Amino acid sequence: MNILILGSGGREHALAWACLQNPKCDRLVVAPGNGGIAQIADCAALDPEDAGEVVDFAAEEAIDFVIIGPEGPLAAGVADALRAAGILCFGPSQAAAELEASKAFTKEICDAAGAPTAAYARFTEAEPARAYIRQQGAPIVVKADGLAAGKGVIVAMSEAEALAAVDDMFAGSFGGAGAEVVIEAFLEGEEASFFVLCDGETVLPIGTAQDHKRAFDGDQGPNTGGMGAYSPAPVMTDAIILKTMDEIIRPTMAEMARRGTPFSGVLFAGLMIKHGAPRLIEYNVRFGDPECQCLMLRLGGQALDLMLACAEGRLGDMAVNWAEDHAMCVVMAAQGYPGSYEKGSVIRGLEEMPETSHEMCFHAGTTRRDGQYLANGGRVLGLTARGENLRAARDRAYALVDRVDWPEGVCRSDIGWRALEG
Ligand code: AMP
Ligand code: GLY
Repeated sequence: MNILILGSGGREHALAWACLQNPKCDRLVVAPGNGGIAQIADCAALDPEDAGEVVDFAAEEAIDFVIIGPEGPLAAGVADALRAAGILCFGPSQAAAELEASKAFTKEICDAAGAPTAAYARFTEAEPARAYIRQQGAPIVVKADGLAAGKGVIVAMSEAEALAAVDDMFAGSFGGAGAEVVIEAFLEGEEASFFVLCDGETVLPIGTAQDHKRAFDGDQGPNTGGMGAYSPAPVMTDAIILKTMDEIIRPTMAEMARRGTPFSGVLFAGLMIKHGAPRLIEYNVRFGDPECQCLMLRLGGQALDLMLACAEGRLGDMAVNWAEDHAMCVVMAAQGYPGSYEKGSVIRGLEEMPETSHEMCFHAGTTRRDGQYLANGGRVLGLTARGENLRAARDRAYALVDRVDWPEGVCRSDIGWRALEG
């Protein structure tokens, strides 16, 4: 089968790698891809958010199955356009992608489904929002309603910080995403990510993970897209998984179906767990990056069978075969990320990296020029390994980091600390 993956990050490199582990995959194209992906697949210079361009390309290249990596194309309706053209596609419709594209929509669904989440209020004007913050006090969380590349959430520890965030959002610092603002109660507890596939009806859990959003060791510094992740998440015990499925995931999926907009694809629930009770922080309608790198290394080639079954509405026949293993991904980023950083520095040592079912160097932001790899983004590499326990996975992942010769690159040295100390 001919497969097209949309996206260009570490997540898409991991998805591409997993597809290639499955003998069903005859030809693989990734659009637009990156320097690392180009070593294992054809890359096509497409705009993944341009539905017309994607559909034309898929038809011309006889693509049988499209996997949509990032949220942008989903929110733009690319899955709808592909399905309308009769092309099988993994990823939710534009209407179902609202679960990520609008925080106010997600809150509304949680209300209707009775899913536990933080108390909230929504505003389209600054003055009532400011009054609400003064009335509720800090800590409090201010969120731009729309997609803001992971930057639209301010966890304010003081009232002044929350008020400034509201002013900022209504002044347009997040563009259209901040035209509506959701203000919600600050939740305490331990965070975890839970991933399920849903084909509109059947829901199948495919793994748990924890990521590290802060830039520096000790979970300090600015928020990033994620500096590392590990799977499984120890806080996600079987009992908590059951509770999350019963109280949050299944009611949400049932409510989406009831509204005539069933969800088909991967749903990534960001949870806060306290005293054995999970509460929803947010939904994403795609795999997490770098959580996906851990999940794909653990699932291997069966990931393609699962995504295909999901797209074809056959999840009821599927089961996930788990090894009792653990995976970790350590992100190497350009110095300065998530602020301003340089592009174009040379990365050596990548040609000699081991590429096995236990160790992979997934590229997130590289390009290849004159036979060399150059850094081409903020998050650049995801050194990913698995082992019989988290410590073994960690040791392997950091051994990969040591093989990278890139003076301009930085990484956290403590990925997994919470699970390893606990
Ligand atoms: P998000 O972009 O929605 O993933 O939010 C970014 C981060 O903000 C989350 O991973 C949490 O650490 C934090 N966060 C979001 N909402 C809340 C909340 N209600 N209480 C505490 N922390 C939150
Ligand atoms: N690593 C978090 C995300 O992909 O949203």
